[in-house]
Amino acid sequence: MAPPRPIRLRITRPDDWHLHLRDGAALATSVPHSARCFRRAIVMPNLQPPVTTVAAAAAYRGRILAAAPAGSGFEPLMTLYLTDELPPAEIDRAAAAPWLAAVKYYPAGTTTNSESGVTAIEETYPTLERMQQLGVPLLMHGEVNRDEIDIFDREAVFIDEILAPLIKRFPELPVVLEHITTREAAEFVAGADVDAKIGATITVHHLLYHRSHMLAGGIRPHLYCLPILKRDSHRAALRAAATSGNPRFFLGTDSAPHPVGDKESACGCAGIYTAPAALELYAEVFDEEQALDRLEAFASFHGADFYGMARNESRIELVRESWEVLECYAFGGETVIPVRAGETIRWKIAG
Ligand code: DOR
Ligand code: ZN
Repeated sequence: MAPPRPIRLRITRPDDWHLHLRDGAALATSVPHSARCFRRAIVMPNLQPPVTTVAAAAAYRGRILAAAPAGSGFEPLMTLYLTDELPPAEIDRAAAAPWLAAVKYYPAGTTTNSESGVTAIEETYPTLERMQQLGVPLLMHGEVNRDEIDIFDREAVFIDEILAPLIKRFPELPVVLEHITTREAAEFVAGADVDAKIGATITVHHLLYHRSHMLAGGIRPHLYCLPILKRDSHRAALRAAATSGNPRFFLGTDSAPHPVGDKESACGCAGIYTAPAALELYAEVFDEEQALDRLEAFASFHGADFYGMARNESRIELVRESWEVLECYAFGGETVIPVRAGETIRWKIAG
């Protein structure tokens, strides 16, 4: 007989190892939504212009801290945006800043604000070499964007063409394959050599949804993200990976707010806003998988261990209690539609 489902869950406070907070007036919404349950977050650098210097990251961090609710203890962990020109000397400065956690790789043209990204990985080898020497992690948006590669295949092709050769060339470089969406990615990460320094974040939307949710019965632009949702068998593989207890897999929401008009458009942009309900939705998934006892390690231990940071000491409590997500939130002078807008969520943060 299955054990009774718990109705309360007390876990170590989690961290979000992949987050988009945006900038300016948007921070007033985005920062409190994440700070409500996450103590730390890896903040992505794809602003306009991108965050390519430690000085720019320091200034951005200051703006985020100014938007954090008093007493929240929210700690933004900043990232640098890798370009063909990012000099190794900037990596020395990055390694000296304790709040600067990693460098983000976007292949040019793959996603939101990736125009300044890497055009050819070889261009960045001297910088990657320095990162490897200093132990600065490389966070990878794992897609190729060649026209002839179907959008649903772009992650799997990336693994073969870019990732596998890269980790052979830089075996000591810590690498995170961000927001994995396919069985191939889950298998690649789980199957890498025991001493490989590789991890992967898994978003809650890729655990909840598959491509038919986005495309059957009408196009739902608020479920459009990159890498794009795949077929259901991939979602199943991601659920298995997230709930496996394998320390290479950890929580990263990729919560990515956009003004409603940019999403509901003839050419809508990619990004799903999950921050207002992220931890609660992960709890829903782990509950469905009868794996609530593994949520804490996935959400609060594996990421910190990968980055060599201390695990959080404070705790947070979840209760199995339904609540309704708002239809929209203010977002600078505009509005943003969250995932599950106006719908019910079955887990709630207590208190
Ligand atoms: O869906 C996405 N949105 N994927 C990304 O890689 C970027 C993000 C964003 O910044 O909006
Ligand atoms: Zn992202």
